[in-house]
Amino acid sequence: MFEPNEMQRDLIDAVSVFVKDLIGPTAEHDDAEERFRKEYIHQMGEQGLCGIATPEEYGGLGLGYLDYAMVLEEIAKVSASYAVSVAVTGLPQVILNQWGNEDQKQQWLPALAAGEHLGAFCLSEAGSGSDAASLKATAVREGDEYVLNGSKYWVTHGGYADVYMIMARTGGPGPRGISCFLVPGDAEGLSTGRKEQKMGMRASPTTEIVLDNVRIPAANLVGNEGDGFKVAMTALDSGRITIASIAVGTAQAALDVSGGYACERKQFGKPIIDFQGVGFMLADMATAIETSRMLVHKAAWLKDNGRDFSGTAAMAKVVATDAAMKVTTDAVQVMGGYGYCKDHPVERFMRDAKIMQIFEGTNQVQRIVISRHLKKAYTAPQG
Ligand code: CAA
Repeated sequence: MFEPNEMQRDLIDAVSVFVKDLIGPTAEHDDAEERFRKEYIHQMGEQGLCGIATPEEYGGLGLGYLDYAMVLEEIAKVSASYAVSVAVTGLPQVILNQWGNEDQKQQWLPALAAGEHLGAFCLSEAGSGSDAASLKATAVREGDEYVLNGSKYWVTHGGYADVYMIMARTGGPGPRGISCFLVPGDAEGLSTGRKEQKMGMRASPTTEIVLDNVRIPAANLVGNEGDGFKVAMTALDSGRITIASIAVGTAQAALDVSGGYACERKQFGKPIIDFQGVGFMLADMATAIETSRMLVHKAAWLKDNGRDFSGTAAMAKVVATDAAMKVTTDAVQVMGGYGYCKDHPVERFMRDAKIMQIFEGTNQVQRIVISRHLKKAYTAPQG
């Protein structure tokens, strides 16, 4: 778990080279222009990077979350936006793997795993973020169809996705009234609402998705009616490992750039890393990244080994994303005026890091998850 094995080392090296060539040349431009290139997803998909943890029989690589975490870290070193794309197109896959029936797996998984189709996950709404169980979008059964209405917010890949995994209310208030649906991107009545203007992750499109009498076959219900909240929560448990991996990659890239700079940049006659104020800052950054990586890998290892990983994934998400925010901020500090300007990528890393403390459940929500696990453990009968 602590060091990549030979297969993982080869995978990391191959992904690193591939992504630097594919995304590296346009990363700064696309951040400035808020441009998303769907073709990059297709190209990463051709290399197997869009379905790493999806079983081979459904077109994936059939690897584990530990491998997936290592791959996302490499993509994030170049572009957190595209690492998020891979993670988000992975969310419908993790849901289908766990909750989908055989027909749904065969119909939807291969194209997603191959990167031919782009997936999206729709839980949040304008008035329902952390309190996900209060969502208001509805799905009403009419014969062999469901009719969906409402609006979903902060949808990564909004307007680009080929398939949206949408949580909507089929029953009464609260978590048990929610169901999960597969909705094709070209469904009549599904449209893109406002496009968010963001501080970071600017190459990753985020929009509102409006559902206006969207009719889908009843066969597109995932799991049973009323399962939707649990479907979303189990997907987010896994998703939190992916976001934490992306945070590790972003932080590592910031350390690599600022550490290299601190060795080159001379002031008062010596490299600035030789001043304790800077050297210790870099030491703390490296320590925080290593700590985060180990916790992320532990959460992934628990998932891969069929153990309860929800609490550890939440811890990994808190530790890694808080570390990414601090490390990227300190990277800018180490580089001074150069760090603050767009000639170097650290200011982009810093802007990208902020959302990681917010999406896939804020770090305050993660603490709710962790404390509930603690309560469960401490109130369980001893023996
Ligand atoms: N796995 C399985 N079941 C779970 C679960 C989990 N991880 N978490 C909760 N449940 C079950 C509970 O056991 C309970 O089941 P019963 O009804 O059978 O008892 C049910 O779900 C309700 O659970 P809670 O009472 O704990 O629900 P709650 O309303 O108190 O909410 C919460 C808990 C942790 C705060 C949850 O609402 C939450 O995670 N909120 C944050 C949502 C979030 O992460 N949003 C991010 C959106 S995705 C994103 O950012 C998009 C992107 O593009 C990147």
